Amino acid sequence: MALVRTLIDRAQSHSEPTLPPGLSEMYDGDLHFPESSAERPFVIANFVSTLDGVVSYEIKGQAGGSTVSGSDTADGFIMGLLRASADAVIVGARTVHDASPEGLWIPEYTYPDAKLLFREYRVNVLHKPEYPLLVVVSGSGRLELERAIFRTHGVRTVVITTSAGSDVLVKAGATKLPFVQIHALDAKCGTMAPMAMLRLLYAQLGVRRLLHEGGPTLFGQFLAAEAVDELFLTLSPQIAGRKGDAIRPGLVQGMEFMPDRAPGFQLLSVKQRAEHLYLRYGRTGGHSSDGVEQDSRFRKSP
Ligand SMILES: NC(=O)c1ccc[n+]([C@@H]2O[C@H](COP(=O)([O-])OP(=O)(O)OC[C@H]3O[C@@H](n4cnc5c(N)ncnc54)[C@H](OP(=O)(O)O)[C@@H]3O)[C@@H](O)[C@H]2O)c1
Repeated sequence: MALVRTLIDRAQSHSEPTLPPGLSEMYDGDLHFPESSAERPFVIANFVSTLDGVVSYEIKGQAGGSTVSGSDTADGFIMGLLRASADAVIVGARTVHDASPEGLWIPEYTYPDAKLLFREYRVNVLHKPEYPLLVVVSGSGRLELERAIFRTHGVRTVVITTSAGSDVLVKAGATKLPFVQIHALDAKCGTMAPMAMLRLLYAQLGVRRLLHEGGPTLFGQFLAAEAVDELFLTLSPQIAGRKGDAIRPGLVQGMEFMPDRAPGFQLLSVKQRAEHLYLRYGRTGGHSSDGVEQDSRFRKSP
């Protein structure tokens, strides 16, 4: 049964379907991604936002995306489908801190009903391991190692950190955890460059398709580095509002762009279920306006 209805689909058509029939029926269409370039993985981002652009209510216990989506079923399904499509999922340390200690970034965690379909797609169609690699970015290395992401059999987690952060993690016992790897990168004032992370993932961990699940701080840095190829954005029909003293972040935090340099996107597909919209955008080479530089991977709308 279809979970969403496709309103617009401008993504390039392929002769061979990618999704198994059960998943394409639920998604009301197929899902293809371009190959990665020679130097870095193809990067897909996924967020849910209120109508006024808020991605976190910043309330303890209600800071995550599921509060923003209103625990929307189809948002959970698309999140699971994107996880199932990726070699690795990357998140910033604060997104991890704000999630449930039992939280896992695996496909069925957000949509358990499709567990078997996700596995069939990953293992039999994409020939990937059962679960994507989880990549946690933390300059400080201050992570709660009792979390399920560091202790679940079969879930591989890589922490990308600084050399100081690596020392913190080693002292805390991270190297004794069988499914956890630590990679230290050079950093400026505790901040590592997104391109260095991507090169590491590509060259040392074989990641060709990376799903970026935020948060806004890490996402802003990837955008600034021109390292986001696609954005899947669920628009949730609610308005969060903002007060001056309580900062509710939008898609990007800690980074701003001048109008003539603002990252531009082209609409690839629009899906809908009840009052929610599920938007898919591809990054354009230039600023979004009339005469936008079209990416030749996608055909223009009719
Ligand atoms: N609605 C949605 O779709 C959605 C999606 C994702 C997240 N969220 C929400 O957004 C909030 C978190 O977002 P956030 O922007 O505050 O945090 P974030 O991006 O998740 O994490 C920020 C942290 O990641 C580490 N980090 C990020 N970039 C780094 C770099 N270049 N080098 C080294 N370390 C780096 C740092 O960790 P250390 O401090 O350890 O050094 C930094 O404090 C949460 O409430 C989450 O639930 C919502």
